Amino acid sequence: MIIAIDGPAASGKSTTAKGVSHILGIPYLDTGAMYRAITHIVLTKKFNIDDPLELKTLLNGIQIRFEIIKDENCIFINNKNVSSLIRSSDVTSNVSAVSAIPEIRESMVGLQRKIGRENGCVIEGRDIGTVVFPNADFKFFLVADVKVRAERRLLDLEKIGETKSLNELMNEIEKRDLLDSSRDHSPLIKAKDAIEINTGLLTINEQIEQIVKHITNIQNNKGN
Ligand code: CDP
Repeated sequence: MIIAIDGPAASGKSTTAKGVSHILGIPYLDTGAMYRAITHIVLTKKFNIDDPLELKTLLNGIQIRFEIIKDENCIFINNKNVSSLIRSSDVTSNVSAVSAIPEIRESMVGLQRKIGRENGCVIEGRDIGTVVFPNADFKFFLVADVKVRAERRLLDLEKIGETKSLNELMNEIEKRDLLDSSRDHSPLIKAKDAIEINTGLLTINEQIEQIVKHITNIQNNKGN
């Protein structure tokens, strides 16, 4: 079973997808973490991604895998656990540019389809219901007011010891949404058949419950 969850930055996709995956007993795949991991490598190894040869070297030389450690879904790039490093502000402000490169997307989408098809998955990102799995069994699109999203991100950043103002975060989120939704290749867009959920007034548990309820209702209706 493939459950696609898309939506703009900080709309609650990761926490919701993890919760749904836990309740339904299906693996979870965070595609944003993959684009963040590549961005981390581009920044630390100083790859010039505008140069086709360097881009090729980058993509040929990286191996991405996920591993669950102490209940946390960790991402490894060339056997190095980069799970915390990919949440830095530096990565966040560069990831939209890196993920807009068609060759990078093609490589990641291939890997996402391979991982997803192995055992099914709850997979979250920007283009899952439109490009990665257009025939997903269930599609959801999470939205929320930018202020609510910035407040959530503020809490995330506090956990890794970074401080930012709410305004700064609102600007960053709006900028990233604009870049993600206006790029030529696989822009952030709601699939026609996705169910939209506004998470602004919901708690995490309510978001998870709503999605699980939709899935159960649709499955029950199909069975009748
Ligand atoms: O957690 P947050 O909403 O901040 O973002 P994320 O899901 O970690 O994704 C980080 C970035 O990766 C996004 O802003 C997009 O630029 C890119 N991304 C993408 O292009 N396609 C996806 N399927 C997932 C993420």
